[in-house]
Amino acid sequence: MKLRKLGNTMNLKGKRVLIRIDGNVPVIKGRAQDGPHGRIARSAVDINWLSQRGAKVIVMTHLGRPNGRHISAYSVKPIAKRLSGLLGTRIQVMRSVIGKDVERAIEKMENGEVLLLENLRFDARESENDEGFAQELARLADVYVNDAFAVSHRAHASLVAITSHLPSYAGPLLAQEVAVLSRLEKQAKKPFVLMLGGLKMTTKLPIIERFISDLDNLLVGGALANVFLVAKGLSVGRSVYEEASVESARTLLRTHGDRILLPLDVVVVRSLRKDAKQREVAVEEIGETDRIVDIGPRTRKLFQETLSTAKTIVWNGPLGYCEIAAFCAGTRDVAKVIAHQTGSTTTIVGGGDTLPVIEALKLADKYTLLSTGGGALLQFLAGESLPGIEALTM
Ligand code: 3PG
Repeated sequence: MKLRKLGNTMNLKGKRVLIRIDGNVPVIKGRAQDGPHGRIARSAVDINWLSQRGAKVIVMTHLGRPNGRHISAYSVKPIAKRLSGLLGTRIQVMRSVIGKDVERAIEKMENGEVLLLENLRFDARESENDEGFAQELARLADVYVNDAFAVSHRAHASLVAITSHLPSYAGPLLAQEVAVLSRLEKQAKKPFVLMLGGLKMTTKLPIIERFISDLDNLLVGGALANVFLVAKGLSVGRSVYEEASVESARTLLRTHGDRILLPLDVVVVRSLRKDAKQREVAVEEIGETDRIVDIGPRTRKLFQETLSTAKTIVWNGPLGYCEIAAFCAGTRDVAKVIAHQTGSTTTIVGGGDTLPVIEALKLADKYTLLSTGGGALLQFLAGESLPGIEALTM
């Protein structure tokens, strides 16, 4: 896949550059929850790069799903605050996405200044990929940059329709994610290990099916593993699992069982409280009232051994119930093992649930790629095309 990229040599001085970022992060009490390697922080690097080159930087993003209504809880103000802190400069926030006020504010911008439009999804036409809306956005700028890998699986006006109305390029963050992920398809060095956790089998199944023939091992943890354990005829007690996927898991075990590594032992509790008594049990000994919350020590060792000989590792989804730190030890362990491998091994890590764990361990810059994508990453890994990226291919 060849993308039109925003080159280093392009003269951007005085140009109005409209950059689409994905600033969609949780907001708690008016504060954007975005760590040093969060989505906003990583976009800020490229916004700063444009500003240093003398561009007038017009930033646009969505936040949540306000469904075409102007709802103040979804205002981008917390994103502006976070960006201002990161860039060390004041950011002008618009009260609307488009319109006369926005046009006037842009006319007054100095080279290097940064301005943020209000939530794109306050206008219903954004999600409809509306041509008229795209044209109105395009009128605000000379150049368009998509730096929002994490939302590029949506065929929305600020990602797709707009590319017909402005010279359009992939920003550095988007280009890097696509470059690393695209290499997987053709040149994944062996041994190639895919490790999946999290809750939903339906979202991971297309990825498993796409890669299973090339993989040396598929390691499975989290509630995803519960589906496989049930498929093997084991009881998972009161643990959650996707019942509708048991048959698919059974088929996978029948056809590729020799390469699928499941937990040998697990940590169980009776209630999901952080001070609940934890027990380590073999998967054959899970009691009726038990809930699986983490992988056990024998499994950690098995996963660690497998990961430490791999040359390509792709990891998505926690291996335990990481909402509670006490149940996240297995996930923390593998995060460290994978980080340690980077250099000799291509390590690709993603998924919103794993990011807080990785940031808390200060490992965020220790992987070949820490993807900003949630749904977009799963879709890309499943081999499906992403409309926002397709729109930028040559
Ligand atoms: C995400 O958080 O995965 C992206 O921002 C996309 O958000 P959406 O699922 O609301 O389109």
